[in-house]
Parts: sequence; C-alpha cells; structure tokens
Amino acid sequence: MRKFLSLVLAFVMLFNLCGASFAAPAAKKIGISMPTQSLERWNRDGEYLKAQFDAAGYETMLTYSDNKNDQQVNDIDNMISWGADLLIVAAIDGDGLNTVMDRAAEAGIPVISYDRLIGNDAVTYYISFDNYTVGTLQGRFIEKALDLVNAAAAKKSYNIEFTAGDPADNNAGYFFNGAYDVLKPYIESGVLKVPSGQTEFQQVATAQWSTDTALARAQNILGSYYADGTVLHAWMCSNDSTSAGVAQALDSDYAGDNPVVLTGQDGDIANLANIVDGKQTMTVYKNVANEAVVTLEVAKAMLSGEVDGAALAKTFPVECAYDTTSYFTSPGHYTPSFLLVPTVVTKDNLNYLVETGLYEMGADGYLKSK
Ligand code: BGC
Repeated sequence: MRKFLSLVLAFVMLFNLCGASFAAPAAKKIGISMPTQSLERWNRDGEYLKAQFDAAGYETMLTYSDNKNDQQVNDIDNMISWGADLLIVAAIDGDGLNTVMDRAAEAGIPVISYDRLIGNDAVTYYISFDNYTVGTLQGRFIEKALDLVNAAAAKKSYNIEFTAGDPADNNAGYFFNGAYDVLKPYIESGVLKVPSGQTEFQQVATAQWSTDTALARAQNILGSYYADGTVLHAWMCSNDSTSAGVAQALDSDYAGDNPVVLTGQDGDIANLANIVDGKQTMTVYKNVANEAVVTLEVAKAMLSGEVDGAALAKTFPVECAYDTTSYFTSPGHYTPSFLLVPTVVTKDNLNYLVETGLYEMGADGYLKSK
C-alpha cells in the first residue's frame, strides 16, 4: 500500500512538474487603436488585425475613436493601463498623440504606427503602403486619360480641380504631392488649367476626409467656375470618401455631359459601384488584409527580440519594401518602414478585387464585400 501511495505521489509530482513546464505562457496583449468606424476601410483594418492576432494566440483590445483625438488618447491610455505588450495605432491626428506616446515609451511599450505616421519618436516601426506612389498613380492616371503628353503639340488644354485629405493625417500630404508632382509641369505649361485657382494643399484639403465637406466644396467650385458652361475634364481626389462627395456634386451641380476623370483610393463598396456606373474613373486599391498580415509578422518579430527589417520583409507572403529613409518622426529621426504596394483598379480590372478573395461580384454587376 505504502509503495502504491508513493507511486501515486511520484506520479502527481511528475504531473505537476510537467504541468508547470508545459503551461501556456500568458498571452501577450496587443492594443489596436483605429481612428473611426465611419470610413469603410478602418472597419476592415480593425477586423483583419483583430482576427489575425486572435488566431495567433494574442489577447487583443480593439478600439475606434470616432475621429476624436481626445478619445484616441483615452483609448491608448486604457491600453497602457491594461498592460499592453505592443500598440498598433492608426492616428487621427499624427501630432495629437505626443503625450500618450511618451507614456507608452515610459511604460516600455513598443508602438507600430499603422498606415498613418505619428510624429513621435516612440514609434518603433511604420507599416503602410507607399503613400507617395498612391498619389503618383492618381497623377499618372489623369496624365494618360487626357493624353497630356501629346496635348501641347495638339494645342489642347484641359481643366482640372483638386481635393486632398485631412491635414492632420500625415499621409494626406504624400498623396497630394505624389499626384501634384506628376501634373505640375502640365499646369506650368498651361496644358492643364485650374479654373478655381486652388492648387495649394491647404486650399484643397478636406478635414477628416469628410464626404460632406468634399461635396460642399465641390458644389461651391462648380457653381463659381463652371456654371457658365466651362468644361471640367478631371478632378483629382485623394481617396474614395472625398471622391464620393465630388461625384455627388458632379451629379447635382455640373451641367456638362462629358465624363469627368475622377480618381480615388481604397476600393470602398460605394465607390466601386460609382466606377461601374461611370461616376468615378479609378481607385487606388490597398489590400488592408495584407497590411494586417505584415503587421502580425512585424509584431511577432518585435515581441520575440531583435528585428532584422530588411531580412524580415523578404519573408512576407506579399510584396513589401523595407525603407529607412523616407519617413521620419522628428527631424533626422527616421522610422524604419514596411511599405506595401498599391494597385490601380478601374472598370476594366474589377476582377482583380474578386481575386483577392475579399470581394465578390453580385448578380447585379456590383461588387460586394465577402
Ligand atoms: C488612408 C487612406 C484613407 C484615408 C481616410 C488615409 O490615412 O491611408 O486609405 O482613405 O486615410 O480614411
């Protein structure tokens, strides 16, 4: 009996030992702070990020801050108190998170600046698409659609207007400059004319990327400069939410019956419908599911020790550049960045979106989210 008891005891001790050594380590905590649910893409980002990290065994806290900087500060503070091991933040205002970023740094929590760069050196990595290239693609699209290269020889000129994004969003300037740098020589040579005269970023910017604000400004411009029958040929819009406002204004306040080349970015469902209907000409698509995949891989590497960014970027299942010279959080303080590649989508290659597996073509000919 005694022999049996000591055998049981030995077994229990062994079991406990094994238990102790095989117990799952406490899951690392990931705070995911997204700007707003009012714009389609951030819902996708939040959903994909959370799903990725949950599936990889992390504990997640996901918040949306209703496009209010104070609320985002509060949300991030809650993540710090919760004991986050890593923060993923898409900033509402790139310069509005300074104090809370300092608190994250004091608590030793690394930060991934997601899609939008935060102007604080606490940022460890920046993960986004190549934002300047997004704008370049929009500018080149207009250049090709209007055949600007041959316009001067053919003695032709065209009218264009611009709508950019939120000045608080660090990306907005990159998008605008990317497009403007392509079109500027044509404006300077007189091939492109801007009847409103509004070509400065601050003049064409749209607070919070609001559709209504873009709509009101476009109605104003159309009423002031095109009501006399002046023909509008192109409107460079930095993204889909603003493009939706301009398309609405063209419907209601533009008398010309020519198709206006109208750009966008994101592949929002309503804008894809506008593309099918000929009310928007293109969108620059950024696969945010891939952005989430890259974010998970970078976060895993960060949490397990040193990151060799260049080598890591080569292991991703999607094309992504590792860039240490384009973005900085303060003068001279460059942020190592992982930059994915955007794609132009028009009526002619909508199937590209279906092939991502994230969209499906409805029987009515319009794309739906899957
Ligand atoms: C994103 C765009 C988006 C815009 C408005 C930018 O920072 O990069 O994809 O359209 O914010 O949400």
